[in-house]
Amino acid sequence: MADVNLFSPGRIDGFDTKNRIIMAPMTRSRALPGGVPSELAIDYYKQRASAGLIITEGVAPAAIGLGYARTPTAETPEQMAAWKKIVDAVHGAGGRIVMQLMHVGRIAHPANRYTSEPPISPSAVKAAGQMWTDAEGMQDMPVPRALETSEIPTVIQTYAQATKNAIAAGFDGVELHSASGYLPMQFLSSNTNQRTDQYGGSASNRIRFVVETLDAMGKAAGSINKIGIKISPAMPFNDIHDADPVETYTTLVKAIGGMGLAYLHVLQSSPEPSYFKMLRPLFKGPFAAGGGFTKDSGNDMLKSGGADFIVFGKLFTSNPDLPARFEKNADLVAPDPAVFYTPGAEGYTTYKSL
Ligand SMILES: Cc1cc2nc3c(=O)[nH]c(=O)nc-3n(C[C@H](O)[C@H](O)[C@H](O)COP(=O)(O)O)c2cc1C
Repeated sequence: MADVNLFSPGRIDGFDTKNRIIMAPMTRSRALPGGVPSELAIDYYKQRASAGLIITEGVAPAAIGLGYARTPTAETPEQMAAWKKIVDAVHGAGGRIVMQLMHVGRIAHPANRYTSEPPISPSAVKAAGQMWTDAEGMQDMPVPRALETSEIPTVIQTYAQATKNAIAAGFDGVELHSASGYLPMQFLSSNTNQRTDQYGGSASNRIRFVVETLDAMGKAAGSINKIGIKISPAMPFNDIHDADPVETYTTLVKAIGGMGLAYLHVLQSSPEPSYFKMLRPLFKGPFAAGGGFTKDSGNDMLKSGGADFIVFGKLFTSNPDLPARFEKNADLVAPDPAVFYTPGAEGYTTYKSL
């Protein structure tokens, strides 16, 4: 592994990548009403097609999975026609792109949704904190409705259908967002999962939703090697807490390690313990590491064999040609959080390549 670096070609089961640089999934809140990605997104993703792989912003598998202002869905023909234009633009520019499916569960405000269904979660546990809504400004998070056991297959089915839609639109694969305190992580974590059925209690019960969802997505895609997963063990974002994340995530990765998934994407949010070191040996496929990487720390990680791919988030917002800038040791433009989630082109498609 000694000679692997960010610019080495890679392979994710099913396709080749021109480098080991992955663009992280990033919600940018520029979608149109009704969950349709805007035309601006075509340019935004195309500008970033020099990444070895782009992971899209979080996309709701169905309207009930939406939570934030101006975020997209992968359900209707109109939404999917807009996604197809994005995929075609990225492929036309020589890039690869997978769709991230993000069902936010309880991290949702009704004012941000085009469905009147209440937000759902494994248990009726409200998240602390507030969320931005265009209509009413900052709002408390609502108490979610706890899913009945009999409803869970229906929720999983929304992921399967969205996966089918994404593959039909030409995406190279689909990533299950099982990180950052959203629905799958709400199943994994003990503070949000207080269920007494087969989806709650022990670690092997709390991982069940994720395992069944991956399996359904693989069947929908026609091949499990088109499906990746993102996890963020022990990350407290969105008021989530697990009593024993080491046990939960080792149980999970042991269970999914031999499924033949496209990749495991791990976001490490605090230095210790290293979930990269802990989980990599348990997973047989490509391993993508993310969270605060720089060119140097990314190269070190690849050289040491600690990961096969490095995921970069914030730096891609302000440096559309990040791989070229790394390669040339060019200056990087600092990310500007003030424009991460604002509507319009400014701070979205306005950053220049070298
Ligand atoms: C503006 C912004 C939006 C994000 N939205 C998502 C998202 O939709 N899905 C997701 O999995 N992670 C999301 N993240 C987290 C990133 O994917 C990534 O894990 C995180 O930023 C750490 O990588 P970095 O330090 O290279 O930015 C977002 C991050 C940023 C900065």
